[in-house]
Amino acid sequence: MTLKIAIVGVGNIGNIHLGVYQKNPACKIVAVCDIIKERADRAATQCGCPGFYSVKEMLASAIQIEAASMCTAGVENGGDHYTPTMELLSAGIPVLGEKPISNNLQQAEEMVTLAHRKNLRYGINLNHRFTPAASRAKEWVSAGRLGEINIINMTMWINNPNETSPWFHIRALHPHSLDVMRYFGGDVEKVQAFFKRGPRQDGPNGRRVCWSNVQVNLLFKNGVLGHLTGSYDAGGSYGLETLEVVGSEARFVLVDACEHLRFYPRFSQETESYDYLGGMMSFGETFSSRIARWVEQNVAKVSPDQIDASGEDALKVQRIIEAIIKSWETGTVVSL
Ligand SMILES: NC(=O)c1ccc[n+]([C@@H]2O[C@H](COP(=O)([O-])OP(=O)(O)OC[C@H]3O[C@@H](n4cnc5c(N)ncnc54)[C@H](O)[C@@H]3O)[C@@H](O)[C@H]2O)c1
Repeated sequence: MTLKIAIVGVGNIGNIHLGVYQKNPACKIVAVCDIIKERADRAATQCGCPGFYSVKEMLASAIQIEAASMCTAGVENGGDHYTPTMELLSAGIPVLGEKPISNNLQQAEEMVTLAHRKNLRYGINLNHRFTPAASRAKEWVSAGRLGEINIINMTMWINNPNETSPWFHIRALHPHSLDVMRYFGGDVEKVQAFFKRGPRQDGPNGRRVCWSNVQVNLLFKNGVLGHLTGSYDAGGSYGLETLEVVGSEARFVLVDACEHLRFYPRFSQETESYDYLGGMMSFGETFSSRIARWVEQNVAKVSPDQIDASGEDALKVQRIIEAIIKSWETGTVVSL
């Protein structure tokens, strides 16, 4: 079976989805859509399929669509997702949305609720966990090699001068870091956070508008202790991300999502090192692995509650993010 795909929003990331689908023999792009005519037209030419300038128009064409990538952006990179996602879900089409699911919790709840009500597969491109190295580490955890997990530390940072909102950094970047933390630690019960604005010469009082650095303590429901370090004033030679999961019997460190994985047994010096597991060389390749999984799960018609990195997972992450903001604003530990 060839899965019939539509892509809504063919800007930077929509075009990455497009390239990934084109290389996947299990699917075929049958429609593209963007409110910017030139973008829709260019993508349509590239795919040899019709291009549309609104989701409504695309749905009215009666082209058979079996799954859609939703790659709009908007305020805090999530403000535009709601309306086209609701239109697609209302029409009975499974959706793979970009992250953040939304910058607005109420709208995120509504999209997840609609997908549930219509029994539709709804995934989010939380691609950082879709690496062979993360899968290997997950196998270690499931097999009990780490013993009981006590601590999860995550650092994720990039250079990003975007100043469009005070909360852009936490809402737009940290769906990724917190999703990986939930992947290993499960649901979060409480958070406590501090933020710092980085320096900017021409900013108000020489500071950025965006709360560009953050330190968060997390208490997971199972008692595991977590810590997140995030920054938009870092990256470059600092790398992208480091995950450390510490258990009673062993710990692992996963550097840059897919690049370096180290296993440290607590009571022995016999460490294990893996570099570029599965041949995955850099973070950019996670678009292919995440989308391949989405295609595979749709071709297999898995039940919506089986979707990896689902809308519900993304909603849970967004709830953590709003609790982090509340913690800083109120100076309190916030329960979810
Ligand atoms: N998963 C990742 O690793 C990753 C990395 C970077 C960005 N992103 C996410 O990708 C998303 C897209 O980012 P981008 O940089 O491609 O943005 P972009 O602005 O380049 O592209 C968005 C496109 O959506 C179109 N659009 C907006 N509303 C529309 C609608 N109702 N119908 C059809 N088209 C519409 C715009 O015209 C634009 O062409 C964001 O949510 C961002 O957070 C994800």
